[in-house]
Amino acid sequence: MIYRTHNCGELCIQDVGKTVILSGWIQKIRNLGSLFFIDIRDYFGITQLFFYKKFDNIILRLGKEYLIKIEGKVVKRYSKNYNISTGEIEIIVSKIDILNSSITTPFTIEDKTDGKEEDRMIYRYLDIRRNPIKNNLIIRHNITLEIRNYLSHNGFIEIETPMLINSTPEGARSFVVPSRIHIGKFYALPQSPQLFKQLLMIGGIDKYFQIAKCFRDEDARSDRQIEFTQIDCEMSFVEVDDILIFFERFIKHIFKNINNVQLDTFPCISYYDAIKTYGTSCPDIRFEMLFIELNNLVQKNNISFLKNKELIVGIKTEKFYYTSYDKINSFFKKINNKHFLWIKYLPNKNLIFSNQNFLTKDILKIFLKYFKANPGDFLFISYGKKNKTREFLSKIRLKIANHFNLKNSKIFSPLWIKDIPLLEWEEKKNKYKSVHHPFTSPKEEDIHLLEKNPENIRSKSFDLIINGMEIGSGSIRIHNKKIQNLIFKHLGLSKKEIESKFGFFIKAFEYGTPPHGGIAFGLDRLINILEKNENIKNFIAFPKNNYGKDMMINAPSFLKKEKLKELHLD
Ligand code: AMO
Repeated sequence: MIYRTHNCGELCIQDVGKTVILSGWIQKIRNLGSLFFIDIRDYFGITQLFFYKKFDNIILRLGKEYLIKIEGKVVKRYSKNYNISTGEIEIIVSKIDILNSSITTPFTIEDKTDGKEEDRMIYRYLDIRRNPIKNNLIIRHNITLEIRNYLSHNGFIEIETPMLINSTPEGARSFVVPSRIHIGKFYALPQSPQLFKQLLMIGGIDKYFQIAKCFRDEDARSDRQIEFTQIDCEMSFVEVDDILIFFERFIKHIFKNINNVQLDTFPCISYYDAIKTYGTSCPDIRFEMLFIELNNLVQKNNISFLKNKELIVGIKTEKFYYTSYDKINSFFKKINNKHFLWIKYLPNKNLIFSNQNFLTKDILKIFLKYFKANPGDFLFISYGKKNKTREFLSKIRLKIANHFNLKNSKIFSPLWIKDIPLLEWEEKKNKYKSVHHPFTSPKEEDIHLLEKNPENIRSKSFDLIINGMEIGSGSIRIHNKKIQNLIFKHLGLSKKEIESKFGFFIKAFEYGTPPHGGIAFGLDRLINILEKNENIKNFIAFPKNNYGKDMMINAPSFLKKEKLKELHLD
C-alpha cells in the first residue's frame, strides 16, 4: 500500500496538475453544504483538501484527528493563505480511505491549545502533535547535533558510561535499583558520569564527551527535573583556563549557529566577588543594581540603629518614577519587612520617604548622597547577619527585575564564576561537605589551609551562569592519591568508607593518572535559555511533573507482591 507520494507540507504552485496521494490527521472540517474543505496535517505541515458533495456519506462520518489517505489533483487555490507553505494550492480529492478513527481529543490540537498542563502531560503523545512541542523536539535535535559535531571536530569522542552503578556523591539523593541476583544489594542510577569520565582519562582517552542521562532524587522545579541530560565533557592535560577558553568558544558557537547571536567575551569573577556584589553565586547580570556595603558609612555617621549590625548593604534603582505610581506602590507593598529599609527619593527634592519613619531626613540624606541618588531613584537597604542579609537583598534585586520587566529574554549575559570554595560547613550534619564534588582540586596555594581553615580553601572549579541560571559547572580534578584521601578525610569519611566506596578509584590513581578536568552543561537548561523559554519541561519529550511523576505512564507505581519477593524487598 502506498500511503503517500508527498507529505502535507511540500506541495506548491509548481505542483499544480499533479495527481498525488497524501496521508494525514484531520485538523479541520468545513461543511459548506454542497462541498467540503478538510485540512489534513502530518509532521511536515497542513494541506487543504476539497471534496465534492458525492463524498458526503464518508465525510459525515469523519471527525478531528481521524487519519485519512486521499488521492487527488493539485489545483491553484482561490483564496490563498500565505501563512503556510502549501497555502497557494489545494487538492481536489477523487478517492479517500479512512486509515484510523479517533475519539474526541481531551484538548484541541492547535498551536494555542485549551489543554491544561495536567491533561497535556497525561496525553503527551497528543501534545507532541502540536507545533510548539513538536518544534521544540526538532530544536533539541538540532542543538544536540550541533553539539556532537562541534565536539567531535575538536577531538572529543563520545563514550557511553553505565547506568547501573553505585551512588556518586554529587550532592543530591540517588535513585536506587534493587538487584535480584545479589540479595540485599542495590545499584544506583548515575547522578552524573563523574567518576567514569575521570577513569576514561586515566585510561588514556584524551578528550571525552557524552550526551548523558542523569538521575537525581530532588524536588523538580521549572529548571530542574529528576531525570535530565548533561553535555558531559572531560579533557586531559588541562588547567582551568584551557577549559574556560575552549568551552567559551563552544557556547559562542552554539549561540551563533542555533540563534545567530554573537556573544561577547564572557566576564569572569570570583565566587567571593559574586557574593559580595550580587549576594548570590548565580547572578543575573542583565541589569545592574550592584550591592554597596554601608558598614563604614554607618560607623562614620554614627547611625545608631544600624551600628551593631554584622552587615548593612544596599542597592539603588534608577528612575522608577517614570513607571506608573500604581506599579511602584504595588511593588513596595510586596516587600514590607521589619529588618529592611527603603528610601524613596521623589522628583521633588524635598520629598524623601522611608518605611522606617523614625529616621530623620538628615540620615536619609546621608544614604542618598553616598549612593549618588538622583530624584526618582530608590534605595533598598538590608541589614543583619551576613548570609541572610545578602540572600534577602539578592531576592529583592530579582523581585525588582521581575516587577519592572528588567529581564529581557532577548539578551544573553553569560558569566564565569571562578575560585568557588572547596568545602562548606553543614550545620545539621556537623561536618564539611564539598561545594562542587569531592574530586575537585583545591588551589595549590590554599592547600595549607586544610587543617586550620578549610572553609577558606578555594577550589579549581567554575560555573557558567547565563541570565542568572547555572548552565554548566566543572573543575580541575584531584589526580594525586594523597590529596584525594585528605579531602575524603575532611568530608568525614573513615578509612573503611573510603576503601569500600572509592577503593577502585583511589587504586586507579596509582597508575600514572594524568592531570585532567572537565565540565558538564545542563542540556535541558541550555536549550531553554537559547529558546527564551521558562520551563525545561517544554523541551523534554516525556517530562515528569513537579512531584517527579510521569503522568502518562503513571510512574512510579507499586510492585506486585511476587515482584517484591523476587527482589528480596518483601
Ligand atoms: P553539576 O551537579 O553542577 O555538576 O551539574 C552540571 C549541570 O547540570 C545541570 N543540572 C540539572 N539540570 C536539570 N535538572 C537537574 N536536576 C539538574 N542538576 C544539574 C545544571 C548544572 O550546571 N559532574 C559534575 C560536572 C563536572 O564536574 O564536570 C556535575 O554533575 O545546568
